[in-house]
Amino acid sequence: MKNAAITIHSQTSSPSLTRLIEFLQSCGVMVELCHDPSLINYSPYFMFDEKLILLSEDLRISYDWVKEFKTHQKKKYSIHNEPFAKALGLKNKRNISLLDTSGGTGKDAILAYSFGLSVDIYERNVDAFCLLACAFLRFRDSDCYNEQFPMNLKLGTLNADVDLGHYDCVFFDPMYPQKKKKSAKARKEMELFKEIIGPDDDADSYLEQLIHKHHYVVFKRPSFAPKLHKPSYSYEGRTTRYDIYRKV
Ligand SMILES: C[S@@+](CC[C@H](N)C(=O)[O-])C[C@H]1O[C@@H](n2cnc3c(N)ncnc32)[C@H](O)[C@@H]1O
Repeated sequence: MKNAAITIHSQTSSPSLTRLIEFLQSCGVMVELCHDPSLINYSPYFMFDEKLILLSEDLRISYDWVKEFKTHQKKKYSIHNEPFAKALGLKNKRNISLLDTSGGTGKDAILAYSFGLSVDIYERNVDAFCLLACAFLRFRDSDCYNEQFPMNLKLGTLNADVDLGHYDCVFFDPMYPQKKKKSAKARKEMELFKEIIGPDDDADSYLEQLIHKHHYVVFKRPSFAPKLHKPSYSYEGRTTRYDIYRKV
């Protein structure tokens, strides 16, 4: 894991910034705060409108889970048709607890949360984690968050001693080399994200560990990617495939 230390630039102090810093510190990230605008080019992070923004050349990354959640709610997905919902095994169950082992931008975690799942998220990349943390805290304060369905965010990867027994489902979505052409903006954002995160070269062996440790693992892949470790079955989305590893 990269050294867990970041510098955040902010013109002003605010309760949300203080809370973000406290949360990051409680997760083991060392945070330095800088109020000097002349130094902004030396740090890619700054705080604007309660959002943590990661700046690189002309691109900015920040997440708004509240907006995303509300968009999902409006779409009123059918859990019988939506491939991700089918893959998570929602058809016949209620009160499902999901472990998302690869947080990334949190998009999948928020989609799962909009289906009514409790979600624990792990993310090992510090840069990705800091952006997630800011979105997570803002989401948890919003009226979209339901305490009956808790959500937690953790920095790091699963230790061998973490007990997965109380999760109904384990989800893994590592980085995969992109083949298909995307729009210029999406491509740029994807490239920046990939540059920040780097490849998940250990995905194959990590998947193997997860399959060994849990009876229901959902592995997300691009549709063109080869299948690994003989999944029990798969659900095909438009561009994505969900490979299910299920022990009966
Ligand atoms: C393709 S992205 C995940 C995308 C995510 N599903 C989303 O909705 O944005 C992969 C992310 O998983 C993280 N990751 C990969 N392997 C991991 C592991 N073993 N433990 C924790 N995080 C991991 C990477 O750092 C990266 O941020």
